[in-house]
Parts: sequence; structure tokens; C-alpha cells
Amino acid sequence: MKKRLSPWQAEVTLNQESAARVTSISVSSQKGGVGKTTLSINLAHAYARAGVRTLLVDTDPQGSVGLSLTRQSRLLNGFYDYIEDPAIPLDRLIVPTRLETFSLVACGQTTEYEPGGGMGAHLARIRGFLRAVSGRGYDLCLLDTAAGLFGVTSDVVTSSDAVIVPQQAEPLGIRSVPKLLDGLNRLRVMNPRLNVLGVCLTMVQEDLEESRGAADSLRGILPGDMVFHTQVPRDGVFVKASARGLPVGVMEEGAEAIEVFDSLREEIDRKLLGDEGEFR
Ligand SMILES: Nc1ncnc2c1ncn2[C@@H]1O[C@H](COP(=O)(O)OP(=O)(O)OP(=O)(O)O)[C@@H](O)[C@H]1O
Ligand SMILES: [Mg+2]
Repeated sequence: MKKRLSPWQAEVTLNQESAARVTSISVSSQKGGVGKTTLSINLAHAYARAGVRTLLVDTDPQGSVGLSLTRQSRLLNGFYDYIEDPAIPLDRLIVPTRLETFSLVACGQTTEYEPGGGMGAHLARIRGFLRAVSGRGYDLCLLDTAAGLFGVTSDVVTSSDAVIVPQQAEPLGIRSVPKLLDGLNRLRVMNPRLNVLGVCLTMVQEDLEESRGAADSLRGILPGDMVFHTQVPRDGVFVKASARGLPVGVMEEGAEAIEVFDSLREEIDRKLLGDEGEFR
């Protein structure tokens, strides 16, 4: 059977010029603990499995991706080392995985790092980082961020082409959504080209009325195209996977999760690249 090319690969052959620039997507939310890191890891893995050369970057000073995927992450140089000293070659920060198309950059030696700081203070260096990533031939750079929209996180989102906002499907979480969208609108003012891909509901429990209700009310509040059809279910497999330092897709019990993240990937492709897989 002929393998279907992902729109990303179609783009590479159609347009050499834009193939030279990586597409950057940050995963961000005002609230903590909503599933940003889980979504980042598993979405990055879904893209890599589809043949898209993917770099997952941990911009959370707590080192969430690193803690989930690489046991020795505290010893690795990473994103914040580059922010402090952009002379560090990117190659020294990249951690390969078993999948040729999937690499990551840990957060780095940030024990003294203050995640606050003025908005805009790190823009130039983050853009320099993304240029270096482009130069290394990646198609996609996914950036997991710390909760909140200030300091480095706001600069990461501002420097990105697009942002995805995970939102836990529970009533309290939903109340913070209008505030979050306010925040994203502010970032759009700083970067008018930022593509707000939308909110992705996470930890959805279809068997729980409150969870379904929260998901429905979010879909009631926001314009239809601002909420992904794909929802990430609450499933112990995600907790198991992160305890083992793996994306769910490589676990035996991960078949359903693979479908979820493939479906999210396809929705994102349609939003970014259009139905025909060409950039708009
Ligand atoms: N779909 C899910 N089903 C079950 N557990 C989940 C799911 N998604 C995330 N979790 C668990 O919930 C916790 C928080 O998830 P995660 O670390 O991805 O959130 P986060 O938004 O990155 O948090 P932080 O704001 O602290 O960075 C973790 O223990 C994770 O394993
Ligand atoms: Mg996290």
C-alpha cells in the first residue's frame, strides 16, 4: 500500500523555501496541572511517528518533559542554558530518541532560574533558538511551557507560529477559560501572526456527568473552531507512561491513545495547512 505523506512532508517537496523554516507550536495554559506536558510529549510522538522531524523542547524550569522522558535530565544542558548563553551549539542540547524523527531538548540547568522577568526580555534569544532549530532541519518544534502567561512562557508563545491550549474537563477549570483567552488575545497583539489553534479538552471522563457538562459548557462558551473535536480521555495509561519515561504510544496498552493523538495531529494539520495540505 502506498504510504500517505503527511501534509508536512508534502510541504517539504512543494516548497523548498518554507521547508527551511521550522513550524513552532507552543502548548500553554494559565492553569497548572491541566495536561500540557502529557499533551506535548504524546503529540510530538504522534508527529514523529508520522515521519515529521520533530523536536520537543521543555521550556518549563521545573523540567517536566525531562522528568517524564529522560531520567538523567537534571544533568543535561538544555533550553535555559541556551537562553543564558546562545553561543552553546544546539547539537549539544539535542537528546535523540529511539525514533529517528523524534528528539528533545531538556530544560537545562535552571535550579536558580527565576521564571518571572519582564515580557519580551528573552524574545531575541528564543527566536535565535528557533532559527538554530530550523538550521538543524526539523519540520516541527513543539514547546511545552510552564503554567501561566508571564516571563519566559509569554516570550515562548509570542515567538511561536501557533499555540494549543489544553484545558482540563472539570467545572472549576472551565471558569478560567475566558481569562485565558484574554491572555492569548494580549499575546496576539504582541505577535499578530500567532495562530491560536484552539483549546484541547483533557482528562475527559465520558462516564461522569460533571466532566461531560464541563466539556459541553466550554463548547458553548467558545466559537466552534476554537475547541478541538479531539478530546484526551482521563486514562491511567498516561500516568503509567510518564512513570516509565515513555510516550503512551510505545506502550502495549497505548493503542487508543495513539488514535487520540493521531486525530489531534490531523486536526492541527488541517488548521495549519488546510484540507489540501498546503500552507494558506
Ligand atoms: N489524560 C490524562 N489521563 C490521566 N492522567 C493524566 C492525563 N493527562 C495528564 N495526566 C496526569 O495529570 C498530571 C498533570 O499532567 P501534566 O503534568 O501533563 O500537566 P501540566 O499542565 O503539564 O502541569 P504543570 O502545569 O505542572 O506543568 C500528571 O500526573 C499526569 O500524569
Ligand atoms: Mg507541565
